Amino acid sequence: FMLKEIYEQPQAIIETLRGRISGDFNLIRLRGLNENLNFLKTVKKIIIIACGTSWHAGLVGEYLIEGISRIPVEVEYASEFLYRDPLISTSDMIIAISQSGETADTLSALKLAKQRGAFVYGICNVVGSSIARCAGVGTYTHAGPEIGVASTKSFTSQVTVLILISLFLAKLKKKITTAQFTSITKELFLISEKMKKTLLSVDNEIQQLSKLYEKAKNFLYLGRGISFPVALEGALKLKEISYIHAEGYPAAEMKHGPIALIDKEMPVIVIATKKGHYEKIVSNIQEIKSRKGKIISIITQGDEIVKELSDCYIEIPE
Ligand code: BG6
Repeated sequence: FMLKEIYEQPQAIIETLRGRISGDFNLIRLRGLNENLNFLKTVKKIIIIACGTSWHAGLVGEYLIEGISRIPVEVEYASEFLYRDPLISTSDMIIAISQSGETADTLSALKLAKQRGAFVYGICNVVGSSIARCAGVGTYTHAGPEIGVASTKSFTSQVTVLILISLFLAKLKKKITTAQFTSITKELFLISEKMKKTLLSVDNEIQQLSKLYEKAKNFLYLGRGISFPVALEGALKLKEISYIHAEGYPAAEMKHGPIALIDKEMPVIVIATKKGHYEKIVSNIQEIKSRKGKIISIITQGDEIVKELSDCYIEIPE
C-alpha cells in the first residue's frame, strides 16, 4: 500500500488543488480563510501543531508562510505543546495538521488552543474526522485513503495546502506581486506531471540503489532551507519502514557533531537541488567527501557539479 500511495502522489496533488485556484490563476479559495479576512490581516502569530510526518509538513509550512507572507510561525509537536502551558492569544492562528484527523495528542492540543480563544484551523485528510470536526474550519487535503500507516501522499498534499495558505496570506498582506503569485499558482499545476515522470524515471535507479546500500546500519539525510524538513521526513520513512537507523539534519549543522560519524560505511543522502543555498550545499558535500562518506544526492536535472561529487544521484526537474 505504501508503494502504491507513493505513486498516487501526482493525482493526490491534483485533488488537493481542485477548485481552489481560480481559472486566471489569480485567486485562491480556501474555506475558513476567505470568511476571516479581517482577523487574518492582523494575525500576530501562527502556531502549527502536529505529530510525525504531519509535523514535518508543518516545518515546510513554516519556511513557506514566514518566507512568503512574513508572518511569524512556530511549529510544535502536539504532545509537547499540550504539556507546557503554551502562550496562546486570541490574535493567534493555530493550524492542526493530521492525515487521519484522529491523532490523540493533536486533537487535545487543538482543544486547548480553542479553549484559549485562538482561531483554530484544521488540515486533515479524513473527512468528518475528530480533528476536522473540532476545528470547525479548515481544508481537507483530499489525497484519498492512506492505508500504509507511514504517511506519503498525505505529506505531499499537506505541503500543497500549506503552499496555498502561504500564497493566500501573502496576497492578503500585499507581500507578493500579482506576477509572482500567478507564476507560482501556474507552476503548481505543472508539478503533478513532473512528479509522474520523475517517479517512473527513477524507479529502476532507486531499486539498484537500495540493493547497494541494504546492509548499511546508519543513514544521514541532509538538506538546507525548505529541504531540511524534507530530509527529516526521509529519515523518518527509512526508520519506520526499514528499521535502519537514520537521522535528518540541516546540512550546515552537520559539522557540529554528526560529522564525527561519517566514514566509508555511512551513506549520506543530500538534497542538493539548485534552488536555495546551492553553493553552500556543494561545500557541505565536499566536507562529507573528505571524510569518505558515500554521497547519494538528489539533484536538479543537468547539474554536473554535484553529479561529479556523488557516488549515486537522482535527478529531478526544476
Ligand atoms: C504516527 C505514524 O503514529 O502518526 C506517522 O506512525 C504519522 O506516520 C503520525 O505521521 C501522525 O499521524 P496523523 O494522522 O496525525 O497525520
